[in-house]
Amino acid sequence: MDFNLTEEQKMIQAAARDFAQTELLPGVVERDELAKFPTEQVKKMAELGFLGMMVDPKYGGSGMDTVSYVLVMTEIAKVDASAAVIMSVNNSLVCAGLEKYCNEAQKQKYLVPLAKGDIIGAFCLSEPNAGSDATSQKTTAIDKGDYYLLNGTKNWITNGSSASTYIVMAQTHPEKGHKGINAFIVEKGWNGFEIGPKEKKMGIRGSDTHSLLFNDVKVPKENRIGEDGFGFHFAMAVLNGGRIGIASQALGIATGAYELALKYSHVRQSFGKEIFQHQAIAFKLADMATQIMAAKMLCLKAASEKDAGMDITQSGAMAKLFASQTAMDVTVEAVQIHGGNGYVSEYHVERMMRDAKITQIYEGTSEIQKIVISRSLTV
Ligand code: CAA
Ligand code: FAD
Repeated sequence: MDFNLTEEQKMIQAAARDFAQTELLPGVVERDELAKFPTEQVKKMAELGFLGMMVDPKYGGSGMDTVSYVLVMTEIAKVDASAAVIMSVNNSLVCAGLEKYCNEAQKQKYLVPLAKGDIIGAFCLSEPNAGSDATSQKTTAIDKGDYYLLNGTKNWITNGSSASTYIVMAQTHPEKGHKGINAFIVEKGWNGFEIGPKEKKMGIRGSDTHSLLFNDVKVPKENRIGEDGFGFHFAMAVLNGGRIGIASQALGIATGAYELALKYSHVRQSFGKEIFQHQAIAFKLADMATQIMAAKMLCLKAASEKDAGMDITQSGAMAKLFASQTAMDVTVEAVQIHGGNGYVSEYHVERMMRDAKITQIYEGTSEIQKIVISRSLTV
């Protein structure tokens, strides 16, 4: 592995850092308080090519590698974890799945506007009774000849109301178990497709999370992705890559909190010296920096492997497992280092601590990552 960044990677990293500081930072506390979707900021992310980063330019994307994606996701999440998850879902769950597994007509119709960021997408796997246990999908898609009839409920869907295009997994042949599941492209506004109320969340409050209800929604046959029964493999393969995005989000949250804590430790004085001069504080920062470096290496390793066309089931899961734990550990300590100031919104770290928690839950909980990793271990 070569972790020296190319000039192009350094440039895109700098552009993302600049964007995060100038466009995301100013309103981030307010958006969190009001649970406000960053509409204008997402438009600017689209202009910068951040919503279809790895998609081939012939389909409206930026044609960049996964390492660049990790760098940009990290910079965005350092400042605004909500903007980061909006970006991650569009890039690594929606666009990546469409580009790899859809036919040309589906790509032209759906991938192009999504990769350009003209519209955004959502990935709909979870259900009230099928979260970690994703094979037990209860949403059904019954084959009616020219179309499928979609019925059921998805929950916890990121970009739930802001999306225009939804990738929905549903069971077509229950007797076949996970081999009977299909993935479909569904459009907002179709008859029988209803968006439930917005969830009131602990963190990533700027992102919109909703249940989706499907009541006899007619999905044209040509909107099925891949062969009949391909849907569960589609979802798992897409999630392998998605986990690199969430690992980078976690890395960004940790890095943002660490940088603020380090700065604060050199400004705040107690007992006649900077608090950094107390070994208890300096050692916390040493641990934080070490964990962040390890998380970064795991993210870059998984990204490099993806760029090399390797199987990233294990490396993506390891990156997510470790980076999300790092995000939790580092943000808790960042609040501690800030003392009372850490507990109020203007110092940012309390928001980062709330945002960090979700990285251990979505795109497979930490326990699920351990299942994935342990199943990949060989003697
Ligand atoms: N990559 C590729 N294929 C995989 C896979 C992976 N990581 N994990 C499982 N599969 C395949 C298996 O090979 C198997 O296929 P075959 O039978 O054809 O060989 C099939 O999927 C079923 O696998 P298992 O028998 O292992 O199924 P299981 O029920 O024991 O466990 C699981 C599967 C790994 C726990 C899986 O259900 C899982 O990943 N759960 C977590 C779901 C998840 O990550 N949800 C995220 C929703 S999206 C989201 O959260 C977005 C967001 O927040 C922003
Ligand atoms: P459960 O599966 O009920 O798990 C409960 C607990 O039991 C967890 O600690 C879990 O790790 C543990 N557990 C379960 N099974 C096992 C096992 N076999 N071994 C050990 N421990 C186990 N989903 C989407 O499809 N699309 C989205 O865009 C999306 N966005 C989300 C956004 C937010 C803010 C949230 C909160 C969730 C989102 N999700 C999304 C759903 C998310 O992926 C699920 O919440 C997650 O996969 C866990 O499922 P669950 O909530 O049903 O928990």
